[in-house]
Amino acid sequence: MALRTLDTLAARLGGPLAGTRVIVRCDLNVPLQDGRITDDGRVRASLPTLNALIHQGARVVVCSHLGRPDGAPDPAYSLAPVAQRLSELLGKPVAFARDTVGPSARDAVAALGDGDVAVIENLRFDAGETAKDDAQRRAFAHKLAALGDALVSDGFGVVHRKQASVYDLAEILPSVAGLLIAKELEVLDRLTENPQRPYTVVLGGSKVSDKLGVIAHLLPRVDKLLVGGGMMFTFLAAQGHPVGASLLEEDQLDTVRGYLATAKDKGVEIVLPVDAVVAASFSADADHVVADADALEDTAFGASGLGLDIGPRTAEAFANEIRSSATVFWNGPMGVFEMPAFAAGTKTVAQALTEVDGLSVVGGGDSAAAVRQLGFSDDRFGHISTGGGASLEFLEGKRLPGLEVLGWAQ
Ligand code: 3PG
Repeated sequence: MALRTLDTLAARLGGPLAGTRVIVRCDLNVPLQDGRITDDGRVRASLPTLNALIHQGARVVVCSHLGRPDGAPDPAYSLAPVAQRLSELLGKPVAFARDTVGPSARDAVAALGDGDVAVIENLRFDAGETAKDDAQRRAFAHKLAALGDALVSDGFGVVHRKQASVYDLAEILPSVAGLLIAKELEVLDRLTENPQRPYTVVLGGSKVSDKLGVIAHLLPRVDKLLVGGGMMFTFLAAQGHPVGASLLEEDQLDTVRGYLATAKDKGVEIVLPVDAVVAASFSADADHVVADADALEDTAFGASGLGLDIGPRTAEAFANEIRSSATVFWNGPMGVFEMPAFAAGTKTVAQALTEVDGLSVVGGGDSAAAVRQLGFSDDRFGHISTGGGASLEFLEGKRLPGLEVLGWAQ
């Protein structure tokens, strides 16, 4: 079955959307610092669907999770700043309900006129949203369903979660996918269905253990796998190189050795760093030097040296591989990009992605935050996914409950 799309919603409801209460499940899980949004990419990515519904006169009820509160209201995770930002971006007032399915939410929805928008409070303030118990989750989904006549599911970043608003609600109400989900799937399909070659995947981030499934699944499908970030040290250690005090997952060494052997068998090149930036400690102003990958402990810091970025020779080699590829997927920063002294590797890789003559895709989460923080505008990449975990699980070929419930099958 194919994904149910937004353009079929009116027909499914048997009439125009004007006056209809449409719940839109977005992923507005944005990074906040002191109550301020530091990257509004996910809010902006939600606009096309919201504008399409507003334009058709729907009464729009926006819902989302933010962070991982404990199933109870917590002001630190309020969606209030997000509702404010949404109002600025839409250029119109947005009502904000101080609860999720209580009197404030019901009043806000009842007060909506055609083309108006309300945001209800963080879905995860109710334990039912993430409950493992089907009945508890269902009961919460029914309370949400009472706020609308239809659901447009558009939170791509959360489709890998079997949660009340993502899964159960889509079974209860007439439901379709929004424009963001449709766009994400169109791009990710191009990575899985006959990608143009050479196809290079760049993986970084701190832990190999977060990427095991995706590495195993991608190895037979790509031409090159470039490994940077904290996870590179487990690869270097698996090759017998001492890594000092750098991040090392000892329990993954055998798995990584297995990947290196599989890659050799399949003719896939795993490109590992030839150098790294090694620091005296984990701090923005720490002393640091560049060391060869096979001599990480031979610096003035000895075995207490800490690798915090790929080195310049590696960055250049990665950039060359990326630029000469026709398809590139990148997930995970190359180093601790939040600290300028250790951001160069990530910046060089990001720059190379902007120069790909073909399709370049930045996986969500940290990599999306990194490119924006480093000053790259979104339009310089083929696509910046809004889903970190979701896009990895997609590429792993996993079943995604939030998509299957919308009719999609991989
Ligand atoms: C994300 O940021 O990856 C999504 O919003 C999902 O959030 P979660 O990992 O807390 O479910």
